[in-house]
Order: sequence, then structure tokens, then C-alpha cells
Amino acid sequence: MGRLRYIGSKARIASVILEHAGSPTGGRFVDAFCGTGVISREAAVRGWPVLANDTLNSSVTITLAQMLNQHDVSFEALGGYFKAIQKLNECKPLEGFIFREYSPSGQSQSGHNRLYFTTENATKIDGARSQIKEWVTLRLVTEVEASLLIADLLEATNRVANIAGTYGCFLSKWSPSAKRVVELQPRKMLLNEARFETLCSDACKLKVKPEDLVYLDPPYTKRQYAAYYHLLETIAIGDSPTVGGVVGLRPWEAKASPFCYKGKALPALLTLATGIGAERVLISYNSQGHIQINDLAEALIAYGKVTLHALGEIGRYRPNEQSAANGGSVTEFLVEFVPGRPTKDVKVVAKPKENLELAL
Ligand SMILES: C[S@@+](CC[C@H](N)C(=O)[O-])C[C@H]1O[C@@H](n2cnc3c(N)ncnc32)[C@H](O)[C@@H]1O
Repeated sequence: MGRLRYIGSKARIASVILEHAGSPTGGRFVDAFCGTGVISREAAVRGWPVLANDTLNSSVTITLAQMLNQHDVSFEALGGYFKAIQKLNECKPLEGFIFREYSPSGQSQSGHNRLYFTTENATKIDGARSQIKEWVTLRLVTEVEASLLIADLLEATNRVANIAGTYGCFLSKWSPSAKRVVELQPRKMLLNEARFETLCSDACKLKVKPEDLVYLDPPYTKRQYAAYYHLLETIAIGDSPTVGGVVGLRPWEAKASPFCYKGKALPALLTLATGIGAERVLISYNSQGHIQINDLAEALIAYGKVTLHALGEIGRYRPNEQSAANGGSVTEFLVEFVPGRPTKDVKVVAKPKENLELAL
């Protein structure tokens, strides 16, 4: 189960999706839009060698942390993983970038008063991020150990952020969870040692081997992840970008995703699925997205065999109470595409009665 609320997370249906992937076949499981990493983790648990990719550094960091076994991260110089977490929880608060731009006591450069974190939490986040950087510089932690701690910090940050689900805006009053003191929590590692690589790249530029199984879970609405999760990205990278506007967005346009535009989504997904070079591609999509599932299936049959699995009804993404009231549910689909000669029909395998309750 993923530990992060994330738009489009497949936490509750990871095992259903991996059932469709089947057993490892010699190639890698390529999770081209890895997000929170729950699918990559499930694939690794089932013995697949995994390549996890996302355009966001924060996603790649969070995914990498999900794939680790305790032998990957001994934290020898710090006395073990638990000691490292404890040191971060006790480290000296710092009036740094997060304090300055995203807490009420900091003076943001653009003069905005942003309530993403209480002053105490903002200085603790700055202190912990700076401590991890120092440990890297002093070679007291490896790059992988540092990524694990940054992922733990991102998840701790997310638990106390004064937001309604995403960082697209902050709340005008403090939520009860935002008033809690930020605290990193050690995670349970994988029992097996996963074979995995991570990559922070545009999925449209990935080239894979024919024997790899490619899983595509692109954004399906206009919500650009680079903007909606801007603050996690800043903490993951650990930089101090020029941020602007009421919500303090970091420059994100370079990571704008074609899948978030109604007019670009279908051609982009078609080009990706047919051009990536794998002999088998699985695509997650749902009935509320920019692309009509029939249009996707009909477009793909010109390039090979298509099976459409309706995985069932799932609860809709509800960033706040008002949208929960407007709720409704969506059908989650898995499109299986095997490139080859054009085919005439889409094979449809429906299980509409199942209720999958998507976690967020
Ligand atoms: C629907 S989410 C994936 C959710 C993921 N399967 C999970 O269960 O957490 C889509 C992801 O695609 C990423 N993304 C958007 N455009 C991308 C692109 N062109 N290349 C790679 N990743 C992209 C976003 O950053 C986001 O993490």
C-alpha cells in the first residue's frame, strides 16, 4: 500500500494489474509513469526486474524508497536506519527556503503570505533537508540512503501539509493534521532484494527491449503533476527556485505533460504505445479521462491486437469534501496491446460488478 495520497494512485488495484501482467518472462517490467511506485513495488515483489520512470524527481525518489531491502541501506556511519530517522526528527530547526516561502512567519520574496506549513514544521523540514545534504557531502550516507531519507521526509511533509489533497493551493485555516508536529517514520522494507533501476525522464523518450513488459499509467485529466505537487518536487530536489504567485509555484512548464491536454492526449498515448518497442504493453485508463476508452482501443487495433479489461468501478479522486459530495465512481480499464498486424476487433473482457475502491 502506498503511503502517499496521489492523484491516479493505483495503490488499491496494484495486485489486480499485476495479475494481468502475469509471471516474469525474462524481460523487465517498465513502469513508465511510476508516480508513487506502488505498481513497481508490486512487480518487484512478484519477481520482475523493474525499470521505474517518471518526469518528477519526487516520484522517482518515492518509488526508489519503495523498492529497497534493508541490505541496500545499512546506514553504517549513522548507526542504522532507525538512528538516522531519529537524528532527523531531532535535528536543529532551520529558517530556510520552505520557512521563507511557505510558512506564515517567513517573508516570501514576492510578498505573499503562504500557509502550507506552520512555522515550526517549515523550520523542521528545512532542518531535516539540510541535514541530509550535509550527510551526503560528508559521505556519511550513500546516494540511495539519502534518497530513502528524502522519501521519508516527503511523506512526513505530506502528512502535515495544510492542503486539500494536492499542493495546487493551501487552506486558509489550519487543518488539524497541519497542526501536528512533522515526524519522519521508518518504513517496512521489501523482504526480497529487488532488481531495479530508476530513471527521471519523459516516458515519450524511453526505448525498451522487445522482451520488456511496458506499463503505461499516464495522467488522464488536465491536472499537471509538476504543478500540483510542486512543493514535494522542491523538497526532493533540495533547491531554492524562484517561486511566484499566491501558491508559490516553482517553474514547472518544462515538465508539462501532453497527456493533460485533451487535444494531445490520444495522439501522444498512441505514439508512445506503438513506438516504445515492447512486444506487450499494458495501459491503465479510466472512464473520466480526456480519452474515450473506445477511441483508444479503436486507434490501437490499426497496430496490433487489443484486449480491453474493465477492472471495475472505483471511488473517484476526491481532493476535498465538496467534490466528495459530487463524487460518483469511474470504471478503471486496463488495455492490453500486442503490436503486430492490424486487427478488426477489440476483445472486451468486462467485470463491471466489481467494486475496487481506489485508494488516495
Ligand atoms: C496517474 S499518475 C501514475 C500513478 C502511479 N501508477 C501510481 O500508482 O502511483 C501519472 C504520473 O505520470 C507522470 N508523468 C506525466 N507526464 C509524464 C511523462 N511525459 N513522462 C513520464 N512521466 C510523466 C506524473 O508525474 C505522474 O506521477
